[in-house]
Amino acid sequence: MRIITALMLILLLAGCEQAFDVEMPESESADAVSETLRLEEVAGNQSAMQSSSDDGRSAAIPGDGGQVFFTGGNDGLVTLGRVLFYERELSRDRTVSCASCHRQDQGFSDSNQFSRGIGGAMTTRQAMSVANVVTYPNGRMFWDERAESLEEQALMPIENPDEMGLDIGEAVVRVDALPYYDVLFQDAFGNDLVTPDRIAEALSAFQRSIVTTNSRWDAWLAAGGFPGNGNGNGNGGNGNGGPGGVNAGGPPAGGVVVTGAGGPPPPGGRGGGNGRGGQQGGGPGGAGLPGNGGPQGGGLQGGGNGGPQGGAGGIGNPGGNDARGVLTPLEERGRRLFFSGRTRCGTCHSGPDLVGDRPRNNGLDAVTTDPGAGRGRFKMASLRNIELTAPYMHDGRFATLREVVEHYDSGVQSHPALDNRLRNNQGQPRRLNLSEQDKEALVAFLRTLTDESLATDERFSNPFIN
Ligand code: HEC
Ligand code: HEC
Repeated sequence: MRIITALMLILLLAGCEQAFDVEMPESESADAVSETLRLEEVAGNQSAMQSSSDDGRSAAIPGDGGQVFFTGGNDGLVTLGRVLFYERELSRDRTVSCASCHRQDQGFSDSNQFSRGIGGAMTTRQAMSVANVVTYPNGRMFWDERAESLEEQALMPIENPDEMGLDIGEAVVRVDALPYYDVLFQDAFGNDLVTPDRIAEALSAFQRSIVTTNSRWDAWLAAGGFPGNGNGNGNGGNGNGGPGGVNAGGPPAGGVVVTGAGGPPPPGGRGGGNGRGGQQGGGPGGAGLPGNGGPQGGGLQGGGNGGPQGGAGGIGNPGGNDARGVLTPLEERGRRLFFSGRTRCGTCHSGPDLVGDRPRNNGLDAVTTDPGAGRGRFKMASLRNIELTAPYMHDGRFATLREVVEHYDSGVQSHPALDNRLRNNQGQPRRLNLSEQDKEALVAFLRTLTDESLATDERFSNPFIN
């Protein structure tokens, strides 16, 4: 009898809870998870941060202002972020999710020149890849870098009327009402409170986890290649080392390749070898090692304090080294060209992630159409998986990598803000006079940056059953 009374009391209380919409029993939320989502298959979690370091945190990641985040320690957060990334309820008419424009099979970008948001609205720029966003040294987001961090960026598309068009307060109400989020927030944060900040944090953690390390380029790096530009102008040595790298947590093949939060060596130091101290972010300033400008292939762990000073400069040998046998002769030719003084590609798209430092003008237009970060300057996100993310540039004007190469070969426009590296001694746009084979080689090299597993990796895939 007493048991029945107690049971009735519990039921009554549970009923009250429901009536006030306070909380739903955990088990009900767990059921909702298994009915709606396919999460179990990827045991433990979707995190890319498979542990490779002793303390169980697999990868340290440079955040804003050189901060270090350890997302690997919170699988629940990454999982929640994955679900939110594919959540269509986050758009006003419930048709669009982040993944509508950042498609896994298209390198987490969009093969359309512009992307379709709610109600047929179109974006005015090409969707950027959210894979390897973590490699961008200053952490800022968007072609014009208007978002200071991933966290700041995350809520913008939700509220953008041409993308998802949903008031963030309404987004919180919707997420709160969906049964499967109780358990997911609980796992991520220890309780099921839904806030805009938490949504942003989870989306960011998921995107930070999308890191690719299985390209042929990675194999080349693992075989001891140096992505140095090797143009060897020997005038390095006056730069400051980076303010400190971060621990990449393991050998290049397993861990996330991180080039150091503050690490890119200043111009001038690169060719002569201060790339070691700066880009790698460890140790004292480079000692002016001849030729091997750029980050060191063999030692991708950052860590340590940035070197105070660049090295004394050295006499460069062209080409850096080649980890023979990993790349085909054509790809190797492309790699050498990419990191040569002739093309200078590798001075802007530099390091193991072929990533830029800040927005630059690469001569797309003589007269500014879209000012970007000002004066036609745009972010140089990592070129990893570039083969998958066509079309190219902020406005998707080039359909193929070949067209991109043609642009640098003969199409660079004169513009007051045109970066010096694309000018000749007279200040005019440089013409590279690449041969047919050179162009093919550059494209072949760019294709070695593709990680074939990205498109199908379950950790990053749509978790919704329907
Ligand atoms: C309607 C298409 C669309 C939707 C939906 C969308 N994005 Fe984007 N995303 C874009 C476009 C276009 C850009 C580039 C815009 C710009 O730079 O002005 C972009 C840029 C980004 C970037 C910057 C990457 C970098 O390297 O700087 C991130 C991160 C990102 N989106 C994440 C998200 C997240 C998270 C969501 C869901 C909350 C989302 N996007 C929803 C189209 C979309
Ligand atoms: C002065 C620095 C600079 C140099 C040198 C340079 N680039 Fe770029 N690159 C940029 C900038 C800036 C962008 C983005 C421009 C935009 O979208 O408006 C870019 C974009 C690209 C893209 C498209 C990225 C995307 O996501 O759409 C590719 C591919 C590329 N560059 C390859 C190369 C190659 C190959 C070379 C050498 C032949 C090269 N770059 C030389 C600055 C440079």
